[in-house]
Amino acid sequence: MCGIIGIVGKDAVAQRLVDGLRRLEYRGYDSAGICTVTNGQFGRRRAEGKLNNLAAKLAAEPLEGIVGIAHTRWATHGAPTEDNAHPHIVGDVTIVHNGIIENFKPLRDELIAQGRTFLSETDTEVVAHLVDREMQTAASPQEAVAAVLPRLHGAFALAIMFREHPDLIIGARLGAPLTVGYGDGENYLGSDALALAPLTQRIAYLEEGDWVVVGRDKVDIYDRTNTPVTRPIVVSGASGALIDKGNHRHFMQKEIYEQPVVVADTLQSYIRPLEMQVAMPQMDFDLSEVERVVIVACGTASYVGMIGKYWIEQMARLPVDVDVASEFRYRDPVLTGKVLGVVVSQSGETADTLAALRHMKANGVTTAGIINVPTSSMAREVDLLLPTHAGPEIGVASTKAFTCQLAVMAALSVNLARAKGKMTAEQEREIVGHLKEAPAAMNAALSHDDEIQKMAHTIAEARDVLYLGRGPDYPMALEGALKLKEISYIHAEGYASGEMKHGPIALIDDKVPLIVLAPAGPLFDKTVSNMQEAMARGAQVVLISDAEGLALAGSDAKATIEMPAVHPLIAPLVYAVPIQLLAYHVACAKGTDVDQPRNLAKSVTVE
Ligand code: G6P
Repeated sequence: MCGIIGIVGKDAVAQRLVDGLRRLEYRGYDSAGICTVTNGQFGRRRAEGKLNNLAAKLAAEPLEGIVGIAHTRWATHGAPTEDNAHPHIVGDVTIVHNGIIENFKPLRDELIAQGRTFLSETDTEVVAHLVDREMQTAASPQEAVAAVLPRLHGAFALAIMFREHPDLIIGARLGAPLTVGYGDGENYLGSDALALAPLTQRIAYLEEGDWVVVGRDKVDIYDRTNTPVTRPIVVSGASGALIDKGNHRHFMQKEIYEQPVVVADTLQSYIRPLEMQVAMPQMDFDLSEVERVVIVACGTASYVGMIGKYWIEQMARLPVDVDVASEFRYRDPVLTGKVLGVVVSQSGETADTLAALRHMKANGVTTAGIINVPTSSMAREVDLLLPTHAGPEIGVASTKAFTCQLAVMAALSVNLARAKGKMTAEQEREIVGHLKEAPAAMNAALSHDDEIQKMAHTIAEARDVLYLGRGPDYPMALEGALKLKEISYIHAEGYASGEMKHGPIALIDDKVPLIVLAPAGPLFDKTVSNMQEAMARGAQVVLISDAEGLALAGSDAKATIEMPAVHPLIAPLVYAVPIQLLAYHVACAKGTDVDQPRNLAKSVTVE
């Protein structure tokens, strides 16, 4: 994981590097550091904890210099201490790294045997030693780096600076993204175009195995065979403005409230309002030929995949497999036949999902990606990009990206159904009508914020919380539990209602809140029976349903939250709101760091 940035500048870089790190904190925030080179000396500041700690340190002890590298860390090897924080300095070399050097142990042993000592527990420090060792004999930093890169296994994006060559930074990437920014009399390196957006919009994306020498007036890119290559310079379009919280206390709260608008924005590009049809971006393959769908994602996005399975199987009658990306390629899935592979990702950079995408492509699968960051690796590599228009999502717990992904998944399901001849024009018109109702229904769901806030105080005292649902509400139960544990640190589990009696019912007593998601409909009675079974054992139930459902079963529950009555297709978009608000208010009641919860990162760029 981790975010990296480097500037070979014409003016002071320290503040600009810190500003860049602020835009990379989604990659990790357990420690941060910066190193500049000036008057033949490295100047370094590092701090444990959030970036503000580093900023405070820099304010107290400023750093001069017009060339520098910086890093925000999500610890993989070694605790998030100052000693383990990047940049690491060895001799005349300093380095920042995103990724994991998988063979760091043998390399470290080899270096220790040669009398080298290590000051950190990181895998990164071996790279600094290797480059430093090569520098003893190499004719140039370029030669040293070219000699070291083939020795590194795993995934890395690196930025390396040299005390005796203060006008260049060398970058390299393999399995982790790295972009080059082209400025006016200065040039940059960054984990993504967003980090560089205030500095430049002119970006080149390095390809796998590339390495680059960034100078003030010149950028030289080489491929893994050390052959000079050119990579196209594109205009990134990433906004340079810093996103603020507006009137909200946290980004997560702001993002929950943005949902009706961003879901409407997203739907707008997938609906032809006059024809009342669903529309897809131009594609050069025929959806009617698809025989099977494989959906791969991580975390919250994987629940969009699970809901997509219900929708696509029901509407298009196509078999759907859903995998969490970390399991996908290592079980060597069968990908024969006309498979449509769909990845779902907010960031478009999640390492496992990206690897799954590449695995599918390598196996001849046509791929589509429901992706929020249009400049991301996945967005650039899928055959068909299905963008979500959620805008930048800052809170680590995904909210508005999730509901936008659901909106696109619904559109894709309808499109597949039409292409497969399983949906009439009349049925499509009706469904499009329901999709258009989603933003207003989500608004109505938001109006329950105050009552959810009140019940959150009771739930904040629980040690365990269970979420139950059936059909598409089962993945929603999983999402409710994930949201709660991510930000409030309360143990929570989502279960398919009918499965509860196969284990989790043993957990139930009067201290375990049970959140039941059950819109009225064909599955309602079954879910309510499971709810009764739990209540008979003392469970404190919060029933989330519509007026009809609450009239039938609400009086039995300890608390209820009334959702508007909606078509089953849009119910997950609407029911997402109360489960997000509940997790949010519980976390606030517990006083946790809602936007940057412990141990997590927004974008998980290591396996
Ligand atoms: C992290 C985030 C989750 C997110 C998951 C997948 O774990 O904390 O909120 O759902 O990664 O991220 P992606 O960017 O691929 O949607």
